[in-house]
Formats: sequence, structure tokens, C-alpha cells
Amino acid sequence: MICITGATGMVGAHLMVQLSNKGETIRALKRTSSDLQYVRKIFTLYAHQPEEQWNAIEWVISDLNDIGSLEDALDQVKQVYHCAAVVSFNTSERQKIMQTNVEGTANLVNILLQKDGVGLCHVSSIAALGYDEKHSFTDEQTEWKKRRHQSVYALSKHAAEREIWRGIAEGLNAVIVNPSVILGPGNWQSGSSELFALVWRGMPFYTEGITGYVDVRDVVKAMIMLMEKKLYGQRYIVSSENLSYRQLFTWIAEGLKKKPPHIHVHPWIGELAWRWYWLIAKVQGKKPAITKETARSSQTIRYFTAEKISSQTAFQFIPMQTSIDDICRHFLADHDQK
Ligand SMILES: NC(=O)c1ccc[n+]([C@@H]2O[C@H](COP(=O)([O-])OP(=O)(O)OC[C@H]3O[C@@H](n4cnc5c(N)ncnc54)[C@H](OP(=O)(O)O)[C@@H]3O)[C@@H](O)[C@H]2O)c1
Repeated sequence: MICITGATGMVGAHLMVQLSNKGETIRALKRTSSDLQYVRKIFTLYAHQPEEQWNAIEWVISDLNDIGSLEDALDQVKQVYHCAAVVSFNTSERQKIMQTNVEGTANLVNILLQKDGVGLCHVSSIAALGYDEKHSFTDEQTEWKKRRHQSVYALSKHAAEREIWRGIAEGLNAVIVNPSVILGPGNWQSGSSELFALVWRGMPFYTEGITGYVDVRDVVKAMIMLMEKKLYGQRYIVSSENLSYRQLFTWIAEGLKKKPPHIHVHPWIGELAWRWYWLIAKVQGKKPAITKETARSSQTIRYFTAEKISSQTAFQFIPMQTSIDDICRHFLADHDQK
């Protein structure tokens, strides 16, 4: 029995389908408030026998911060894939982000330490990695230093990973993946998939930033492979290519047959923009469309290397232009159905 936390999210949904396609028995965790529509759609798109495989999933209600429900959900499992987290760059959600990502992960680790021989794959992030201005590429060894302007999300993912390292030190069989920005089809109203909806509506702007990107299918393929090989006590960056925002938005625009971005946004405009959106959100009592963290990270230049996973396991990533073309096709198909 394989247990998946965050099964209703982007990574969890794609992971479930790939494990289910391999014939694995799956226990998926959801909350009472969870929406299963997105996971259902991913089964329809990618499962060999969508209806049968969907019906074979054992859904269990559990919350990372409810230790009793988590203990029940982890009963009799041989592997756990920990995909649940609050993915948010909204500082006003600080408490929820820290409680779910850090305390929730600590709860999971503590329960698993009481069991024998359970393997864990923890989904961390490039946000949890160190940053060294003197070196052009960030790898698994780059030293973490606390910096100004770090997002609550980055701090939470780093602290969550430390909980996993504590578990490993105490005997837990765990492997960590650090994906870069994950792109995949599905819920066009949330997460990184929202970028496609943004370009569809018209996106004339681009910023100077550069970061890593990876296809969600590669993230879950890497997770399954690392667990099969039992490469415990290690962390692996999972990232296909480093792209500028201009390149990313241009490829998305081409895939959606829209005009590519052509107006360069200087950092000072970004600084004005997030303050403006913060004010609007305050007045309207809504979440801001741009936060200080998203505005600043869109101007940050960082390169990541996945040399470790590629050289140790001969893992090959889907090129990002191919990935973006595929996702655009799904977006257009969804749009045509409306
Ligand atoms: N998306 C990216 O670009 C990216 C990049 C690098 C790393 N990651 C990491 O990858 C993992 C998966 O991300 P994602 O993009 O799949 O996120 P997502 O689509 O936002 O899904 C988050 C999942 O976490 C669950 N969750 C949230 N709070 C919970 C709680 N208190 N108890 C139990 N479950 C809870 C959600 O359940 P509900 O459906 O009930 O809300 C949902 O299933 C996360 O650890 C994230 O930090 C993501």
C-alpha cells in the first residue's frame, strides 16, 4: 500500500496516475474541503483505464495537522509520498504556511519513525536550497544562508526539509526531491498552471528574472524512480532547464497563438506594482494578485543544475519547449470545450 499526501494537488494527482498505471495500490489523503475534480481530470487524461483505476483508489480523510487522522491514514503502508503543502507567497498566510509545511511534516516524520521499514519521498523545492552569489549554479550542496526578503514559503520549505533530515538522522528511510517551477496541465486557476491563463488573457510584460522549470510528469517519474532505487538519505534537484521569463512567456504565447511579451518591466515598476496590488487587496479584502515576494522573485536571476540525478541515474528530462507545447494543447482543448 502506497500513501500519498497532497493527492488532490498537481504533483499528487500526476503521481497517483503514474503509480496506478504501474498497478500499485494507493491510499490517497484528502481533506473534508478538498475538491477532487482536478485529480479526476488527470486520470481521464493519463490513466490507461481511467474509470477502473479511479475506482480502485482508497480515499482517506486526513489533515497534516491532525495527528490522529494522520496516524490512521499511515496504518499498514510501505511507502509514503509527501506532496502536501501550502504553496503560497502571501505573507498574510504565514501561520497556515508554517503550520502545514513545517509542523505537518514534523508530524509525519514522528509517526513514520515509530514504524519499521517505511520509505518516504518528500517533495521539497528549489526554494529550500541555498544561494551563493559567487557561484552561477545552485546545486544540492549550495550552502543555505538566511537572507533578507526570503519568502515565508521558502523559509517553510527549508524548515520542512530539516524535519526530514532530522528523521533521516534518527533512522528514517527518506529521499528528498527539490523541483524547480513545475509546469503541468490542469487547474488553470491556480499555481503555476495559472501562467497559461495569464498569457491567454494577454501578457505584454516580461521581467528580467531567470529560474528553473520542470514538467510535472518528470517530477513524479523521478520520485518513483528514486524510491524504487531506494536512494535514501539524499536530496535531488529535479529541473529540466533554466529559462528567462521572456522565453517562458514567449513559448507559452506561441503555443496559445497569442502575441509574445514585448514590454520590459524594470525592477522599480515591479516594486510599485506590488505596493499597488497590496493596497487594492486591503481595500477589497481579497488576496493580492502580485505580492512583494512574487514581484521580487520575477526579477531574480538563478540557475539550477540537475546534474546529480542525471549523472547518478541517467535521468532524462522532457525539454521545456516540448512540455509547454503539450500543456498549451491541453489548455486549448479545455478552452474549446467551453
Ligand atoms: N507547484 C510548483 O511549482 C512547485 C515547485 C516546487 C516544489 N513544489 C512542492 O511540490 C509539492 C506539491 O505542490 P503542488 O503544486 O502539487 O501543490 P498544490 O497543487 O497546491 O497541492 C497542495 C496539496 O496539499 C494539500 N494540503 C494543503 N494543506 C494541507 C493540510 N493541512 N493537510 C493535508 N493536506 C494539505 C492540498 O489539499 P486540498 O486539496 O485539501 O487543499 C493539496 O492536495 C509541495 O510540497 C510544493 O511545495 C511545488
